[in-house]
Amino acid sequence: MALINEHYLELSENYFYTEMDKRINAFCVTHPKSNLILLGTGDVSQPLPMAVVDAMTEAVKELSQKETFRGYGPGQGYRFLIDKIIKDYQSHGVSLVADEIFVSDGAKTDAANIGHILGRDNIIAITDPVYPVYENATIMSGRAGHQTDNGKWSNIVYLNCLPENGFKPQLPTEKVDVIYLCYPNNPTGATLTRQELKMWVDYALQNHSLIIYDGAYEAYITEKDVPHSIYEIKGAKKVAIEIRSFSKTAGFTGLRCSYTVVPQELVAYTLDDEKVQLNKLWLRRQTTCFNGNSYIVQRGAEAIFSREGKKQVNEKIQYYLTNAEIIRTEFQKLGLQVFGGVNSPYVWTKTPQGENSWKFFQQMLSEINVVTTPGIGFGQNGEGYSRFSGFNSRENTLEAMDRIKHWL
Ligand code: MLT
Repeated sequence: MALINEHYLELSENYFYTEMDKRINAFCVTHPKSNLILLGTGDVSQPLPMAVVDAMTEAVKELSQKETFRGYGPGQGYRFLIDKIIKDYQSHGVSLVADEIFVSDGAKTDAANIGHILGRDNIIAITDPVYPVYENATIMSGRAGHQTDNGKWSNIVYLNCLPENGFKPQLPTEKVDVIYLCYPNNPTGATLTRQELKMWVDYALQNHSLIIYDGAYEAYITEKDVPHSIYEIKGAKKVAIEIRSFSKTAGFTGLRCSYTVVPQELVAYTLDDEKVQLNKLWLRRQTTCFNGNSYIVQRGAEAIFSREGKKQVNEKIQYYLTNAEIIRTEFQKLGLQVFGGVNSPYVWTKTPQGENSWKFFQQMLSEINVVTTPGIGFGQNGEGYSRFSGFNSRENTLEAMDRIKHWL
C-alpha cells in the first residue's frame, strides 16, 4: 500500500498565488470584457534584454551544429556563468570560489528544496509577513508542527514585522536553528542596513544557526547602506546560504535561472555534534536530483554581465523602480500608509479603511479591474495590507493609479 506524505494534507488546498489566479480567472469568466491591470504577482512585463536574446540565439546555433553541440552540462552550472557571478560578488567585496556556486532554475526551487539537507527537528524561524514558500516547504517537510487557532504553526517561530518597526524583524527570544530572511523583502519591500543584518549574522554565529538568505531582489537596491549580499557581513560565510535569481533582475521569470551560494566554511551538525559541510551535502543532493539548467539559458544569463547586458538590465530595473515610485507617491498623496518601493519593485500599503485584504482585493478587482496581492497571503501580520507590484508597463501602472485615485 502506497502511503502519502500526510503533511501535504495540512497545507491549504491551493498555493497562495494559485488561489489568487483562481479568483481572477473566475472574475474574467463572468466579466469577459473587463480590462484588467495586473499589479499582483511579481511577474515581469518587459521583454528580455537584447544582449540575452543575442547570446541565446548564438547558443541555439551552436547546438544545431555537430561540432558545437552539447548534451548534459555540469550539474552545478557552466564555468563561464559561475566565473561571471564570482566577479559580480567581487565588485561588492565578496570573494567566492567556483564550487561554492550552484546554478539552478529558480530561487523558489532552491528556497523550498534546501530543507532536504537539513534535519527534521530543526526549529525554523520565518518573518511574518513572509514569502509563502518558506512556510509551505516547512509544513511539507513535517517541521511545522500543527496549525493553531490563529493560523500559525506550533513549531515555527514567527518573527513579527510590524509597521512600527518598519516591517523589520527583531531577533527571536528563543533559540532557533534555521532562519529564512529575504531582503529587499518580498512582500513589504523593507530592507536591512549593514548594522541590522550584522545583528542576524552575530545571532547565527552565537547559536550555530543557519540563515537562508533570499536575495532575489538584490538588483533593486538603491541605497548605500543596504548590503547587496549577506557575505558583506563578517562571519556570514560560516552561517549563511544565499539564494539569488535572474527572474526579477533580467526578466527571467519565464526563462528560469538562479544560483545558490553554499560557502565551504558553512557547517551544520549531526546529532553527535559532528560538523558537516553543507556544501558537500547540497552538491550530493543536486547531482542526484537536478541535471543542471540548459546551456542556452546559462549563455543568456552570462550575457547579463557583459557591458551591454549590464546597461540593458539596469534600464529595466530603473523602469520597474520608477513604476514603484509612481505607485508609492500616489498612495502617499492619497494619505495611505506606504512601505517599500524604494529598494524594491513592491509597494506595501495599508488598505484605506482597514478592510481585510481579500475584501479589498475583491473590491478592486470587481469595481476598477485592478489586481493586487492581498497581504494576508503572506501571513497574519499582512492582514489589512495589500502589495502592489511595479512590474507592469508604465502605461498600465499610470492607468491603474488613475483608476485607484478616482475610486478611492
Ligand atoms: C511574487 O509575486 O511574490 C513573486 O513573483 C513570486 C515568486 O517569485 O515566486
